[in-house]
Amino acid sequence: MKKDAATMEKIVALCRRRGFIFGSSEIYGGINGFWDYGPLGCELKRNIKDAWWQDMVRNPPSTAGHPKLAGREFQMVGVDCSIIMHTRVWEASGHVGGFSDLMSTCKYCKKMVRADQVWSMIEETEWFKSLVELYATKGIDQVAGTDLVQWAQRKAKKLVPNLALVRNPTVTISWLTERVLSASTPFPMTLKEVIQYLATEQLSMTNAFVTPCPFCGGDLTEPRQFNLMFESHAGAVKDDANKVYLRPETAQGIFANFQNVYDTSRVKIPFGIAQIGKAFRNEINPRNYTFRSREFEQMEIEFFCHPDESMLWYEFWREARINWYKSLGIASDKLRPRQQGKEELAHYSQACTDIEYLFPFSDEPQELEGVAHRGSFDLNQHGKFAKGKEDAFAIFDDEAWERDKDRFTAEEAKDAKSKPPYKYVPHVIEPSAGADRFTLAVLTEAYSYDETRASPEFLKFHPRLAPIKAAVFPLVAKDGMPEIALPIYEAIRKVFPAQYDAKQSIGKRYARMDEAGTPFCFTIDGQTKEDGTVTVRNRDDASQVRIDKSRCLEYLRDKLGL
Ligand code: GAP
Repeated sequence: MKKDAATMEKIVALCRRRGFIFGSSEIYGGINGFWDYGPLGCELKRNIKDAWWQDMVRNPPSTAGHPKLAGREFQMVGVDCSIIMHTRVWEASGHVGGFSDLMSTCKYCKKMVRADQVWSMIEETEWFKSLVELYATKGIDQVAGTDLVQWAQRKAKKLVPNLALVRNPTVTISWLTERVLSASTPFPMTLKEVIQYLATEQLSMTNAFVTPCPFCGGDLTEPRQFNLMFESHAGAVKDDANKVYLRPETAQGIFANFQNVYDTSRVKIPFGIAQIGKAFRNEINPRNYTFRSREFEQMEIEFFCHPDESMLWYEFWREARINWYKSLGIASDKLRPRQQGKEELAHYSQACTDIEYLFPFSDEPQELEGVAHRGSFDLNQHGKFAKGKEDAFAIFDDEAWERDKDRFTAEEAKDAKSKPPYKYVPHVIEPSAGADRFTLAVLTEAYSYDETRASPEFLKFHPRLAPIKAAVFPLVAKDGMPEIALPIYEAIRKVFPAQYDAKQSIGKRYARMDEAGTPFCFTIDGQTKEDGTVTVRNRDDASQVRIDKSRCLEYLRDKLGL
């Protein structure tokens, strides 16, 4: 491992040490899948959400330069909906019936594991790695029963006490030997097959091998559907009539308010509704730090457009979203748009691109955002469930009608007005991003290591995202220096988040600011009193220049470009 590589361990340690991210409820031992953002992390995530809102809602991407959409205007508006909504919303959206993962439960430790993740989780365990070693030294067909019993006693007993081999070595080994020696069963060739033998005391009635629990080696049940929505009750009585769900996505609040926004905001197709807010999913195996959590924040847009133009808008948003990540300093070689194959698409979806980022916890890029063409599915579903007809949220294209109406007789006009292309249910393009996942990507991207510096770790945030934009230091807390430094600090903090620090050595103060990712530090020293200049130190290359003390704010504005 290169010393400067941004490993998850280093990022997690820095985030903990400098107060970016803490485990939720740490004082009680923590709670899996929940995280708290500390002072720096909360500023960072707020900057991310503010940048998204500014660049997507208040000043949305331009169509200029697009071969077919150039010059087309569209409006973007925001909503902030409740987390708990009517239960019918989730029936209409398909979340009550379908928002589930296939799960297996361990018969011994009772932990649940996602069926599609069992083997990748096993491969990460210490007991798996020690088996790999055993087979690496001897070869898969040379390992004898005695080796396996020794392995069970030395390693597996501690790590996977409920593995069949550990619970009952004699039966498991003799069964394994019998199977291996019988002509009908060739020797298991893959490690996965060997593990299934070691986990299966005896073949069951269904003749099925056991898949071992990654945590204790016990038997996993056949996978069953497990709904990911958190349930609660609204009102005093805890019965089914009062059951409610915490929203698993912010999108449905937008769809449920489509008509309200359309009727009250003078928006015209094409237009988008945006929302930032918390979403909750009872993820069975929250993992990879904040990447897969049970409570997280989404930044979602539902963009409503005419079906005939929907593919153009899909491509427009895909480009716009990729460019947004790049504009905030995400290197293009770590960012990968992945167009989903036909077989991956939901039945109603015409296209979907996952915008992925190469995090240090995986060799494969992982999803930051999905840009999906959802057709008219969501509005149709809510039309059906809320109003009793699929096209309840159809809209009338009065511009097209005005253009074409003379083509119809009075008799034909009535019929034509109620049909496409004049009356239609809009199609939806949905760019749906995770604020926490992007925060983690920004931290990863910013992590820098330079062993020639006094304090080698620093965070090279994009200026827009840096939690603190500047620090002001008097070299010493005496000799009239604080009297010069404080007014500079007060002037800066009116405009940019800034910190004042008069304690410890100047090197330690620079190092603290490097770890916080602060782009510039202004130091007031002995020379300031003589010639009125201060030192400005640049985070990225630790270079220093002197400027007049009256120019600090102007310098900052210029360099940050904000
Ligand atoms: N409305 C569409 C939707 O919710 P999704 O792909 O399930 O689509 C969108 O979620 C984004 O939300 C993801 O790309 C990811 O950034 C974020 N996200 C989803 N599940 C998450 C989790 N368990 N933890 C953190 N972020 C998550």
